[in-house]
Amino acid sequence: MKINKKPTLKRTINLFTLTMYGIGIILGAGIYALIGKSAGMAGNSLWLSFLIASLVGGFTGLSYAELVSMFPKSAAEYIYVKNSFKNKVLAFSVGWIEIAADVISASVVAIGFAGYLYALTGVPIVLGALGLILVLSLINFWGIGKSTKLNVIFTVIELFGLLLVIFFAIPHLGSVNYMEMPHGFSGVLGASALIFFAFIGFEDIANITEETKDPKKIAPKALIFSIAITTVIYLLVAISAVSLAPWDSLADSTAPLAYAVSNKIGQNAFLLLSIIALFATANTVLILLIVGARQIYGMSNDGSLPKFLSRIHPKRRTPWISVFVVMLIAMAFVFLENITIVASITDFATFVVFFFVNAAAIILRFTMPKLKREFRMPLNIGKFPIISFLGILTIIVLTFHLEPLTILIGFLLFLTAIPMYYVLRKKSGIKI
Ligand code: ALA
Repeated sequence: MKINKKPTLKRTINLFTLTMYGIGIILGAGIYALIGKSAGMAGNSLWLSFLIASLVGGFTGLSYAELVSMFPKSAAEYIYVKNSFKNKVLAFSVGWIEIAADVISASVVAIGFAGYLYALTGVPIVLGALGLILVLSLINFWGIGKSTKLNVIFTVIELFGLLLVIFFAIPHLGSVNYMEMPHGFSGVLGASALIFFAFIGFEDIANITEETKDPKKIAPKALIFSIAITTVIYLLVAISAVSLAPWDSLADSTAPLAYAVSNKIGQNAFLLLSIIALFATANTVLILLIVGARQIYGMSNDGSLPKFLSRIHPKRRTPWISVFVVMLIAMAFVFLENITIVASITDFATFVVFFFVNAAAIILRFTMPKLKREFRMPLNIGKFPIISFLGILTIIVLTFHLEPLTILIGFLLFLTAIPMYYVLRKKSGIKI
């Protein structure tokens, strides 16, 4: 007879809702805020940059799919790295850089929001971004919780905005040479590295598997579907944007998608698209702030970060210290102001995590060959998964197309985890 069964999370998510969740996280501010700067690098070949970024995401997504079918657990990356590399410092560092990527993304998207706000009202970018982070952090503190319903509404609005761009571009399709690469193929790869930001989020599917029905079967499918669907949407938007406005003027705009549409349709379209972009970006910032605070809370609760970070506010019942820590970090990165640099730092951090996830998928094929894989990647040489290897190779190529300054900042961020691990373990008695 089993008694005292530990309560578990409720499994209510199915394939449809999990795929929608993935699409909802992937679609966000990236496409609204970074498409201009990416067009400046890739020119009319912008679609190719999206395709390459999607392939890199796809390879890594398949590694996630296999790993998730082996370990359907929250704190996914930490568990994969711990089981494959058997090194706690490395696992901690990867967990740390994953949180850093989340929190810094909030700064990127807030700058994107402020770009659209500036285009509409003239409010300075730093002020707009800081104001947004402050207001949303207060909401986060107040306890909006995991407001998934609101997120669905915002996702639909975002999607509507993108479909509008595609719709307005239909009469102009074919008006430019879509193979034109003003900065050569290297410019296309640079744009892929930057726009990779727009695909970030699919990996979060791996983090809610404890609430998913039959996750070993459903999560891999949801990963693949959500990447495939967003790729199609992004490719169409990329082709549309350069058909509506010259790539170099997109690069100069702080509100690129609104500008693209208004260039052919007029000022009302600018207003509409800008307002949609404000919703899209604000929603993404809110989610990132919520997720960032919960990750810090979770690691602290789990004994991997100091205890005070998991303190819950007695009245509001929210992890208020982590909410405000996340707010301060996100605000600090706003001062870099340049959206390309801040987005590239996030991309670098994500590439580091994805590198280790792909490596974990390879290593585990050899160290845990018997562990049941409900989903096993196709294309193998013996036990060796070619897809994960391609994931690693393409990640390295894109990483070296990021700006050197961002590689340096990202690398330092990664390294800070090592002394932190030892200090935390000694001083605060963290457990890992
Ligand atoms: N992919 C997410 C976005 O573009 C992070 O906002």
